[in-house]
Amino acid sequence: MDRILVEGGVPLSGRVEISGAKNAALPIMAASLLTEEPLALDNVPDLADIGSMRRLLQQLGVEIRHPPARPKSLVLHCPEVLDTTAPYDIVRKMRASVLVLGPLVARAGRARVSLPGGCAIGPRPIDLHLEGLERMGAEIALEGGYVEARAPKGLRGARIRFPQPSVGATENLMMAASLARGETVIEEAAQEPEIVDLATCLVAMGARIEGAGTSTLRIEGVERLHAARHRILPDRIESGTYVMAAAITGGRLELRHARLDLFGAAAETLAEAGVRLEETEEGLRAERANDGLVGVDVRTLPFPGFATDLQAQFMALMCVAEGAAMITETIFENRFMHVPELMRMGARITVHGRTALVRGVPVLKGAPVMATDLRASVSLVLAALAAEGQTEINRIYHLDRGYERIEQKLAAVGARIERVP
Ligand code: UD1
Repeated sequence: MDRILVEGGVPLSGRVEISGAKNAALPIMAASLLTEEPLALDNVPDLADIGSMRRLLQQLGVEIRHPPARPKSLVLHCPEVLDTTAPYDIVRKMRASVLVLGPLVARAGRARVSLPGGCAIGPRPIDLHLEGLERMGAEIALEGGYVEARAPKGLRGARIRFPQPSVGATENLMMAASLARGETVIEEAAQEPEIVDLATCLVAMGARIEGAGTSTLRIEGVERLHAARHRILPDRIESGTYVMAAAITGGRLELRHARLDLFGAAAETLAEAGVRLEETEEGLRAERANDGLVGVDVRTLPFPGFATDLQAQFMALMCVAEGAAMITETIFENRFMHVPELMRMGARITVHGRTALVRGVPVLKGAPVMATDLRASVSLVLAALAAEGQTEINRIYHLDRGYERIEQKLAAVGARIERVP
């Protein structure tokens, strides 16, 4: 298995190209199942998770082309749904595979999707996806670890109110509702920018959706959707990660394509913590403010709150800030696996339930550490960039799921980082 070696202590400086958002690209690729006409996508990141979604969609009957002149583009075309099963092996590796459920039921009248099972950051059930589809008239059964959903006469519009916002459930039901009969209203919908991006793409395909980006979505079902071209929005989590890479090393980075308006509460939190952020013509400039980093308390919340997907990276930043920071994770149950690894590097962190108290130390020290999930892994990379000496990060396949060419991007701005087989 590959490892990453980082020799810390170099302030990063230069330009980083921010990729398209993984969490927008995945549901939008699944939307290709909704129409027999081609869907052309630009700015698709080259990531392991995108590869998994491609393989899954190909099994279901989607033909996928890479136009040679446009390396970041994909054309997905599903003239006919050939298979309606999302098998265990793919869903187990990538939870976002459940995003084919809504489109398959809506277009083919049936779907058989493996239950995702537990993952490192908590049990993450899909009950909200299933209850929503049931309200739209699907019959749902569980058999042999698979969800079997059927709607032989098609789906119908329904009023759905989530007990709490779920990104995946909102996406699945928005796609299903686009082809249902009548109007669907989703209350307490997730408001993440990736939901807005999916809605924009669906509207370009002929869907009738109002309220994307607010807590109430209205979708008037249409008979059929058609061909469209859509550009995936920039990855706000990758952007935030590089912002923190600049700040933790005391460097300065220009992030091409990054958009501050996608940061939500993180923009203010980072500013309070001593990170200077400035919008530029091509994106965003990030550097550590002259007074240095200071401890700031945060709670993760649904958008526009502070993203859970930035919590681990922010914790790495707080490890070397002046004073203390209380970090509370409210979205996932078990999302502090990076804590013991950061402590191996000299961080002072105490965890009480869902809260971690981080007391800043003057310097972290390189150590061998283990990556446990996607965002935890990258928090170890950030800590390593700031640490004295060498850090060896093991099990880095998680990084490849969500960060495009991370070692090349970091090396290009001065980091001493290499991947060794
Ligand atoms: C998406 C993101 C992930 C991010 C998360 C929260 C993708 C591909 N992944 O994941 O990176 O960390 O949003 O911003 O976009 N829940 C239920 N029942 C359900 C669905 C969710 O109880 O049916 C719970 C989850 O366990 C979790 C919370 O709701 O505690 C939020 O999860 P959700 O927003 O659904 O996350 P994902 O869509 O899986």
